[in-house]
Amino acid sequence: MDTMPDNENPSVDMTQNNETATTKKIEHKVVMEVQNITKGLPLGRDHIEILKGISFQIASSEFVSIVGPSGSGKSTLLGIIAGLDNPDTGQVLIGGIDITRMTEGKLAAVRNSKIGMVFQAFNLIPTLTAQENVEVPLYVGRHKGSPSARARELLTLVGLEHRLNHRPNQLSGASSSA
Ligand SMILES: Nc1ncnc2c1ncn2[C@@H]1O[C@H](COP(=O)(O)OP(=O)(O)OP(=O)(O)O)[C@@H](O)[C@H]1O
Ligand SMILES: [Mg+2]
Repeated sequence: MDTMPDNENPSVDMTQNNETATTKKIEHKVVMEVQNITKGLPLGRDHIEILKGISFQIASSEFVSIVGPSGSGKSTLLGIIAGLDNPDTGQVLIGGIDITRMTEGKLAAVRNSKIGMVFQAFNLIPTLTAQENVEVPLYVGRHKGSPSARARELLTLVGLEHRLNHRPNQLSGASSSA
């Protein structure tokens, strides 16, 4: 995946988007800055370069899509910007702090408080109820109120108050990803 080309879809050209966004002051401050990310992986005896210098910024309240053909590196890029994988070179700044050189402990704290990820495979814990699955990360981080009350509140917010005690195999795909 090369740096995104100019495109008529504004959500794709993230650098250009931000130039517009930063002129609108506080509510559009930069929350993520990706600087010249590269990532390669071994493929048999070869080495393939997947990300070849990706740079962009995302401002608060922006809604950004990453689009590209299958195999172009979208998931690889998402893993890096979510702090799940490391780039070979380059930086990812979240709130101005570089997450690519952090210790695992500090990174876990950033993931807990700043990043929400909906996986294609939901990664829910099958033996726990919907409410307990939402509670797990709340025990780790610092959040207002008790984890169980907050979990109920969040599930109610997405219309799943009637599913609190259901286990993942009793939820639909959309409910599992909510
Ligand atoms: N663990 C790995 N080892 C070797 N190559 C990998 C690995 N993971 C991904 N790749 C290769 O890296 C490239 C980018 O993969 P990636 O999964 O990021 O693409 P994608 O844009 O998310 O594709 P899709 O739209 O199919 O989900 C592909 O050529 C893929 O085969
Ligand atoms: Mg993918």
